[in-house]
Amino acid sequence: MHFLSTENWSQEDLQAILEQADQLKQQPMNDSLKGKSIAMLFLNPSMRTRTSFQLGMQQMGGIAIVLQPGKDAWGIEFNPNVIMDGEAEEHIIEVAGVLSRYCDLIALRAFPSFTDWSVDREDKLINALAQHATVPVINMETIVHPCQELALMQTMQEKMGELKNKKFVLTWAYHPKPLNTAVANSAALITTKFGMDVTLLCPDEHYLLDSHYMSKAQEFAKTYGGKFTVTHDINAAYKDADFIYAKSWGSLDFYQDPQKDQAHRKQYQHFTVNQEKMALTNNAYFSHCLPLRRNIQATDAVMDADYCVVLDEAENRLHAQKALMLKLLNK
Ligand code: CP
Repeated sequence: MHFLSTENWSQEDLQAILEQADQLKQQPMNDSLKGKSIAMLFLNPSMRTRTSFQLGMQQMGGIAIVLQPGKDAWGIEFNPNVIMDGEAEEHIIEVAGVLSRYCDLIALRAFPSFTDWSVDREDKLINALAQHATVPVINMETIVHPCQELALMQTMQEKMGELKNKKFVLTWAYHPKPLNTAVANSAALITTKFGMDVTLLCPDEHYLLDSHYMSKAQEFAKTYGGKFTVTHDINAAYKDADFIYAKSWGSLDFYQDPQKDQAHRKQYQHFTVNQEKMALTNNAYFSHCLPLRRNIQATDAVMDADYCVVLDEAENRLHAQKALMLKLLNK
């Protein structure tokens, strides 16, 4: 069993992980994973994901090994049937095979290449790893970020209890660079799977998510008794919201032309989350997956407010991922 996306996981299984995460938050230390190991492959930088997995494994008696292919480990070729005359020194077939012999879990962070969305949307790198590994594989962020989803849900359940039909606003936020859509895709998937009334707020149609995630969010809203609506109206979105979740992401329409995206998005700097917008809500909580640029994506006043739960969500990465590792290892 892999954890590549929550899309094919049942709400019941995800809820069981969240409840285990709550227990681990109360009692962090145990020997459940004594002698177990996880290999973590990072093709991109990380602070929270790396620290929380390493610490989480150690707190349960196991060991986490961090590898940065192309930096402190050999570069990896992920495409099948290629003549390997480029930079990569070994193929994912051997990497997955070797790490499966050494370790009990393998995790990968592999952001999209930002060159061709029609290719990137297939999430080939993690799928190749999952195909060739004989141990469970964990997605540490590719075009979705399912570990972040678990932490978000644990945080919202802690703060608000039952989430069904609570108004969750996923707002696009300004950032000077076009960023990955992974957290936005993930937030749309998990909140609709838990029956929330979800509003996607983005500046215009160029910032809609990939059709797969838009239609999955619609499908989950229907199945689980919530709503999924899209608006470009800031006031309407914030009105009566229970939870504001901010993230910046790049336009898929301008994917091959980031300079066009940068020029286009400049008119939308007012999407910054501020106190005036938060005042429109139903005393909403605010969160973001981090890292966040203060006074670009959200103001100091919002980040320092009592309703800001970014640190709770970041802390819950630790507890939720420990619960996930136990689940994948049948502990
Ligand atoms: N939110 C998150 O994944 O943080 P890092 O990029 O620091 O791991």
